[in-house]
Amino acid sequence: MTQPIEWTTAGVRMLDQRRLPAEECWHTYQRYEEVAAAIRDMVIRGAPAIGIAAAMGVALGVERSQARDLAQLENEFATICKVIAETRPTAVNLFWAIERMKQRFAELKATPSTTEEKLAAIHRGLVEEAKRIHAEELALEEAMARHGAPLLPPSGVVLTQCNTGPLATGGIGTALGIILTAVQDGKQLRVLVPETRPYLQGARLTAWELKQAGVPQTLITDNMIGHFMKTGQVSCVITGADRIAANGDTANKIGTYSMAVLAKEHGVPFYVAAPLSSLDLTLPSGDQIPIEQRAAREVTHIRDVPIAPEGVPVANPAFDVTPARYIAAIITERGVARAPYEKSLRKLLESNKK
Ligand code: MRU
Repeated sequence: MTQPIEWTTAGVRMLDQRRLPAEECWHTYQRYEEVAAAIRDMVIRGAPAIGIAAAMGVALGVERSQARDLAQLENEFATICKVIAETRPTAVNLFWAIERMKQRFAELKATPSTTEEKLAAIHRGLVEEAKRIHAEELALEEAMARHGAPLLPPSGVVLTQCNTGPLATGGIGTALGIILTAVQDGKQLRVLVPETRPYLQGARLTAWELKQAGVPQTLITDNMIGHFMKTGQVSCVITGADRIAANGDTANKIGTYSMAVLAKEHGVPFYVAAPLSSLDLTLPSGDQIPIEQRAAREVTHIRDVPIAPEGVPVANPAFDVTPARYIAAIITERGVARAPYEKSLRKLLESNKK
């Protein structure tokens, strides 16, 4: 399946997800500011893919730096990290990846060598770290899919949200990776794909990926979900996450919360699939998760076509928070967490320590 990002000697190459499915257009960015703009403008999106892009953006900035001494490089590094951190606020993977790059920078800085050798080692080492983050993501999503696929029924309809496939993650996908794996394992599943207004990640990206993979699907508009639940046409729900607080409250694409409430009402299991890098145990609950407010134009226009009166007041929160009590399980690369999440999530994270 199509991967959204790669490190090349010419720069960071990204598939422009804004133009899918109409066009497959690639950009190669040579400056970290361009990578930051690509994250902000959603050339690349999806929490794990944002993390990979952030790491590559930091590596690019450092690799192309002309700094001649360590102090100068450290100053530039701080600016690069700040610019990339200010792109999108909700997906914690972005901050997790920047933190990893900072740690690697500190390690390389501490190795005894001449200034010249140290600068070269930092340039090289940060590129390697960004590539490692990408490679690890692929491996962990395969592990996540192995833990998650058994939770899906042998046959039936799986409702998902937004886009959680390879385009969103740089691996095989989180929720969608689990669905694809279950289908490869022989489960007879159809995916119910909500279009996911306002940015239409479901209609444009998930439907495209499922079509490529040959998985049966039905595209619906977001306001049809209640009807499909009430008429018994949904076997389970599985979504991704942009940030999970210590108590299991989960921020994901706007509309996920309504889906979870409907699932509870209709006795349909609601699962979340996310890597441990999406956990933010510094936040006791989802109330503290910052919710990105995006431009009005995403609501008032589709592509460049206006669909609302000019100047109408608009709200565009890009994410909502689903309280943990609606979540049947959180599937990670280290296993499946169930309530009480304060304990189970921490245990999984601890088991990750070497
Ligand atoms: O605004 P986006 O497209 O970056 O939002 C993406 C989602 O909400 C995904 O569901 C999420 O990142 C989880 S898994 C890739």
